[in-house]
Amino acid sequence: DKYQIAVVPGDGIGQEVMKATIDVLDSLDIDFEYVYGEAGDECLEKNGTALPDETLDIIRQSDACLFGAAGETAADVIVKIRQEMKMFANLRPVKAYPHTNSLSDEIDFMIVRENTEGMYIADEEKYTDEGAIARRIITREAERRIIDYAFKYAVENNKSKVTAVHKANVLKKTDGLFKEIFYEVAEDYPDIATEDFYVDATAMYLITQPESFEVIVTTNLFGDILSDEGAGLVGGLGLIPSANIGLDGALFEPVHGSAPDIAGKGIANPIAMMLSAVMMLRYLGENDAADKFDAAILKLLNDANTLTGDLGGNASTMDVAGEVIKNINGE
Ligand code: NAI
Ligand code: MG
Repeated sequence: DKYQIAVVPGDGIGQEVMKATIDVLDSLDIDFEYVYGEAGDECLEKNGTALPDETLDIIRQSDACLFGAAGETAADVIVKIRQEMKMFANLRPVKAYPHTNSLSDEIDFMIVRENTEGMYIADEEKYTDEGAIARRIITREAERRIIDYAFKYAVENNKSKVTAVHKANVLKKTDGLFKEIFYEVAEDYPDIATEDFYVDATAMYLITQPESFEVIVTTNLFGDILSDEGAGLVGGLGLIPSANIGLDGALFEPVHGSAPDIAGKGIANPIAMMLSAVMMLRYLGENDAADKFDAAILKLLNDANTLTGDLGGNASTMDVAGEVIKNINGE
């Protein structure tokens, strides 16, 4: 087989949207070997751990991982996978699709978030006599790595500009360094335009001029917050994919969770999971297949006759899979 893919469906609708997505992947002319791994609430109940070593090994040995969703154990599961696999980059595309509540039809940018340091280091948060304290860690190596990743992403995806987001006016040393490294790395990419904004201003610009962004690169906490603002801009959890890219592997997952309110009914929207698989195909360098899959989803959204309930239709999860496969086959 050409690629080994770790498949971790997890809990609730994770299992349903994964099945739909694998059906579509099987209709592409690529030789995948799927190795299934368990994780999440059901796994905890069954095996006494939400993330067995065996699952980590499968992810480690595979070319990429598709992850559905976990339930209450999600934070532990996904944080542990990120740490174990040194997944330093979190990618969130923010893109307007038809028949969604997008603020504008022209929105199409990528948020590249540093995922290993900044404000989110568990050991750096402590209680003190006065209250509590958290340290914000910015290292040259990690910030250079994420900034370089953002520029490379821009080059490979025909983007013309990278925007650095920081708060260097107040956080003079940590974000001062981030900004300095941004412009150092930029010198290696003379064809890519650059700009840098304060994070508070960016929170506003995302609303007032979302079409102006192409690639945003930022530190951990700011990236976390702006990612969710991005999700709000284009509306609808059922459509938003994400990627975690690491030194030892990469994991692709929808942003949504296990949705216990609709789980088991076969009505979840599988498009966020499918778009995550599209991101995986691009990561693997299978750009033709990614374009085909992406176009088939876009056609479904444009046609608007096979939409799930969250988008105002009454199609089932597997109806969507069937329609996307039809579109791929040009039927
Ligand atoms: P959620 O994303 O599971 O659901 C929020 C709302 O959006 C629900 O009304 C749900 O029905 C709807 N929704 C989500 N995805 C949908 C889809 N594909 N199609 C149609 N409707 C969709 O978030 P919630 O309710 O906050 O959390 C539920 C569980 O999921 C919790 O146990 C939480 O810990 C877990 N979770 C897991 C994540 C992960 O695995 N990465 C991320 C977020 C939450
Ligand atoms: Mg978040």
